[in-house]
Amino acid sequence: MSEFIVRKMTADDIPQVAALEKELFTMPWSEQAFADELNNSTASIVVAQAGGEIVGFADMREIVGECYINNVGVKMRHRRKGIGRALMQALEDSATDEAEFITLEVRQSNEAAIRLYKSMGYIKVGTRRGFYEQPAEDADLMTKFLKRVVMK
Ligand SMILES: CC(C)(COP(=O)(O)OP(=O)(O)OC[C@H]1O[C@@H](n2cnc3c(N)ncnc32)[C@H](O)[C@@H]1OP(=O)(O)O)[C@@H](O)C(=O)NCCC(=O)NCCS
Repeated sequence: MSEFIVRKMTADDIPQVAALEKELFTMPWSEQAFADELNNSTASIVVAQAGGEIVGFADMREIVGECYINNVGVKMRHRRKGIGRALMQALEDSATDEAEFITLEVRQSNEAAIRLYKSMGYIKVGTRRGFYEQPAEDADLMTKFLKRVVMK
């Protein structure tokens, strides 16, 4: 059983988050990019912490009711413990009442991520041809439509 907490990212987390980003992705964001994101009022960035270590993070922007997830990643040795799901849920919880949907792109070969997203209610709504580089690959566009109760 793994113990972790999910919380908002702070400036102190930047070095660890950028190092994890570098571990996981071929075209990683720099420390400066994360610093800029923290200062972006449309962005929510959450981290998963186990002990003193950042073991995962996820980032979303919300603009006029549309939420766009930029990234989610979990350290290799901490996978399949529910951390990815908890990070995705934290982003969803951070969406405002105006948010109508959350959308994201995922490599078509990324079975782990696609299964995670499907298990959380995301459906494939399109394909973005040639979306990824290093290596080149198409993206599935996946969206979760948020049910909002409208009181009249
Ligand atoms: C995708 C990723 C974030 C999942 O993180 P995680 O913490 O391992 O995910 P969870 O433990 O919360 O898994 C939740 C569900 O997703 C699915 N899933 C996750 N990893 C899976 C895998 N390797 N194979 C099959 N299903 C998987 C399962 O349905 C799982 O539920 P279960 O464990 O009860 O069967 C992680 O694999 C990762 O960081 N990958 C590298 C970075 C990446 O590709 N990010 C996505 C970019 S779009």
